[in-house]
Parts: sequence; C-alpha cells; structure tokens
Amino acid sequence: MKIYKAKDYNDMSRKAANIISAQVILKPDSVLGLATGSTPLGLYRQLAEWYEKGDLDFSQVTTVNLDEYKGLTKENPQSYYYFMHENLFKKVNIDAGRTFLPDGTEADSSKACEDYNQILHSVGRVDIQLLGLGHNGHIGFNEPGSVFEKETHCVRLADQTIKANRRFFATEEEVPREAYTMGIKTIMSARRILIVVSGADKADIVKKAFFGPITPQVPASILQLHPDVTLVADEAALA
Ligand code: GLP
Repeated sequence: MKIYKAKDYNDMSRKAANIISAQVILKPDSVLGLATGSTPLGLYRQLAEWYEKGDLDFSQVTTVNLDEYKGLTKENPQSYYYFMHENLFKKVNIDAGRTFLPDGTEADSSKACEDYNQILHSVGRVDIQLLGLGHNGHIGFNEPGSVFEKETHCVRLADQTIKANRRFFATEEEVPREAYTMGIKTIMSARRILIVVSGADKADIVKKAFFGPITPQVPASILQLHPDVTLVADEAALA
C-alpha cells in the first residue's frame, strides 16, 4: 500500500485529484469508480477546476458509483445521484449516458442489484476505484460484518452510519434505513484503489483498517490484500 500524507484537507484533495487526473490523461476511456460523502468533495471541485482550465477531458470516461440510498429519487437532494450530478457530472464534459449508480427508486431489491451487477459487468473492470472510509470502517455501504465475497446487494445501514449521515437530512427519521451498494468482491476487482481520509475523528479507524487485522468487522481492512492501493490522508487522520 502506498501512503501519501497530506498537510490538510485541501492538500489531500489536490493529491488525490492528481492521481485521478493522471488516470484520465493516460487512459481517456477509463472506467472510474466513484464515491460520495464529504471527503471527496474537494477532490471533485479540483477536477472540475482543471477541466475548466482545459487540462482534463472526460468525454470518453465511464463512471460507476459505489452506492445509492434505497427509496430516494434522482431529484432528491440527498440521493447520491443528485450529489454526483451537482458536484461533478454537471461541471465537466462527461457523457451522462455513461454515468451509472444503482437505481434507488427500484423497490425490488434483487432486481435493483441484478441490474447494477449487469451494468458493472458490461462496463468492464474499473481502472481506479475511489473510496471514502466510514467511521466504523465501512467502504461504500459495506457495513461491519459484511461478507467479503459479495457483489451488489441491499444493506440495512448500521446505527452509527444513520447517525453519521443524519447531518444531511432534516431529521434522523428521514435517513433511509437501506441502501444498494457495490459489494467488496466488486471493489476488490478494481485495478487500482484510491482511498481518501481526512480528520482526527477518522484516526482510530485508519489505524484499525490499515494497520490492524483483516476482519469483516472492519470492512476496509480487506484492502490490505489488494495489490494496488493508495491511501491519501491528512496528518490528522494519520495521527
Ligand atoms: C457514507 C458513504 C461512503 C462514504 C462514507 C464516509 O455513508 N456511503 O461511501 O465513504 O460514508 O463519508 P464521509 O466522507 O462523509 O465521512
């Protein structure tokens, strides 16, 4: 695993954006695995800025996102579709027809997951998968106890995740209890993994995930077995 220590959040965002942008420059038709959450926001802002300057071209890129809340429509500002559209897709020249997320409005969980698996198989291997890290070690929405060999599946969110994501919703009751997430098997099949982490509140879980035993209780710990992982974290998270 390569570890890049960033001074602070902005430095982390720039370093990680450099890695994604190198990927797109070297392979313009890359398949990018993308993530939501507050951690990648600065990275997306940086990519959009470089696109504006004419340094990046997303016209041949395909994207597949990690996860989506079950029950939220694309128009719902809390949906991950909306997040991706607002923070990246509408700001760069990406072909909307080549941006994929699980369909949160599909009420039939097995159909939603099967459909997304089919999309993932059809776009081919992800060139670089971006990940954030949940406070309980989750990646995507693969919560502690997740089986390592799953593809897309429907999960019940852990209480800690509902509480952590509560800040984006008006009330805790509004936070969806279920989500569709790419499984760890799919995440692990990406050619490269880029994980971004920021803040002192993540220092404990960074230590457990990357320097502790590999266990389903800390889903991100499985990344220790991936041959090409880059962790970009700020000093506070690496403390
Ligand atoms: C969310 C997402 C994850 C994300 C994580 C951390 O619940 N499903 O993909 O990486 O939690 O979020 P944040 O970056 O806001 O701490």
